[in-house]
Amino acid sequence: MFAGKKVCLGVTGSIAAYKSADLARELMRQGAEVTVVLTKSAAKLIAPATFEALTGRPVTVDAFDEPFAGKIAHIELAQGSDLIVVAPCTADFLAKMAHGLADDMLSTVLLATDAPVSVAPAMNPKMLDHPATQANIATLKSRGVQFVEPAYGLMACGDEGYGKMADVADIIAIARAILTGKRDFEGEQVLVTAGPTHEPIDPVRHIANRSSGKMGVALAEAARDRGATVVLVLGPSPLKDPIGAETIRVTTAKEMLRAVESKWDSCSLFISAAAVADYRPVESLPDKRKKEEGSWTLKLEPNPDILQHMAKKKGDRIFVGFAAETKSVKKNAKEKLTKKSLDLIVANDVSQKGIGFDSDDNQVILLSRDGQEKASPKMSKRAIADFILDAVSGMLK
Ligand code: PMT
Repeated sequence: MFAGKKVCLGVTGSIAAYKSADLARELMRQGAEVTVVLTKSAAKLIAPATFEALTGRPVTVDAFDEPFAGKIAHIELAQGSDLIVVAPCTADFLAKMAHGLADDMLSTVLLATDAPVSVAPAMNPKMLDHPATQANIATLKSRGVQFVEPAYGLMACGDEGYGKMADVADIIAIARAILTGKRDFEGEQVLVTAGPTHEPIDPVRHIANRSSGKMGVALAEAARDRGATVVLVLGPSPLKDPIGAETIRVTTAKEMLRAVESKWDSCSLFISAAAVADYRPVESLPDKRKKEEGSWTLKLEPNPDILQHMAKKKGDRIFVGFAAETKSVKKNAKEKLTKKSLDLIVANDVSQKGIGFDSDDNQVILLSRDGQEKASPKMSKRAIADFILDAVSGMLK
C-alpha cells in the first residue's frame, strides 16, 4: 500500500513511545521505507537501537547527527520524505512545532519540510485540555497539520480522559489517506446518516432492525479520506466514532431528524445510509410491562421520512439514498429515486447472505437521476463506499 513511500517517523518523550515500534513495523509491512527520529526524552524511554533493528535504517536524535554520507541529515529527511508522522507527540513538542523552535533533529526536520505532517498527541488529559495546548493544536491545524485525535482511556499516571495516543491502525489509516488518497471531496461538507434507529416500547424493549452502521461509517471514512468535512449521524451501533469526523449519536428516528436539521445549513452532500425505523410505538410505557399481563397489542404510528422531509429544503445539495430491497430491487429503487428527490440511489438486495445488513461486504446497483446505471461486484463496504463516491464525484460542482 505504501510501496516506494518514504516515511519519517518522529517519536517524542511520552510513555506511549513503545507503541511506535509497532507503528514503524506496520508502516514497513505496508511497504514504506521508515526512518525514525527520536527526541532526547524519547531516547530515554526507548533505545535508538530498537528502531535501527526494526527499520534497518540509522536513527537520529541530535541536530548534529549526520548518518547519511555526503548529505545533511535534517535536509535529507525534510526534503526526501513523503510524509512525516510524529507519534506519540507530547504537549512540549506540540508547543515547539507551533512556535517554530528547532533545537533537535526532529524539530529541525519539521521546520525544513514541505511534506505533509501527521501528529498523534499523547499526554495527560489536563495537559491536553490546557488552553496553551489547545491554542498550539489550533495553530498547527490551521497550517494543515493532520491530527490523529487522542483516544479516551486510563493514563499511565492513573488519570482517566482523552489523551491516550490513537491506535496504530488509526494512525496508519490517516497516513494511507494522506499518501494514497484522492482529494476530490476537498471543500465538500458531507452529512451521512448510518445505523438503525431504536424506537422504545418500554424502558427495556424497543423496535429495531439489523443495521450495524458499517455501510454508513465506511462512507463517512471514505469521504473524510477524500478531503471532505464529515458529520456522521449514527444510530445505536457498537462501532467506534470514525477519527476525523464529527459523530452525533442518536437513538430514535425523531432524534436522527433533529440532528440532520441541526447540521443542514453547512451540508453540501447528504448521504442517507441509515435504516430508519418506519414506525414507532404510539406510546412508550414508563415502566417495564410484566409478562403476567398477558398478550400485548402494540399500536404503531409512522416515523418522519427524513429524506423526504429534508427534500423540501434540498436547494442545490446532492442527495444520495439507499434502497434496502428483498425483491424487484431495481424497480423499487427507481421508485424511491423519484419519490425521495434523489440524485443517486444505492440499491442493495438485503435478502442475500454475506451482503447488506451487518456484513463486512456489500454489492450494489447505482441508479442516477439521469438514467445511468452501474453495478458493483461484491466488495468490502469500504470499497463500496469509494465506488459510490466515485459516482458522486462527477456530480460535484
Ligand atoms: O448498517 P449496515 O449493517 O452496514 O447495513 C447497511 C444497510 C443495509 C442498512 C444499507 O446498505 C442500506 O440499505 N440502508 C438503507 C436502509 C433503508 O432504510 O432503506 P429503505 O429502502 O427503507 O429507505 C430508503 C431511503 O430512505 C434510505 O436512504 C433511508 O435512509 C431513507 N429513509 C427511510 C425511512 C425513513 N423514515 N427516513 C429515511 O430517510
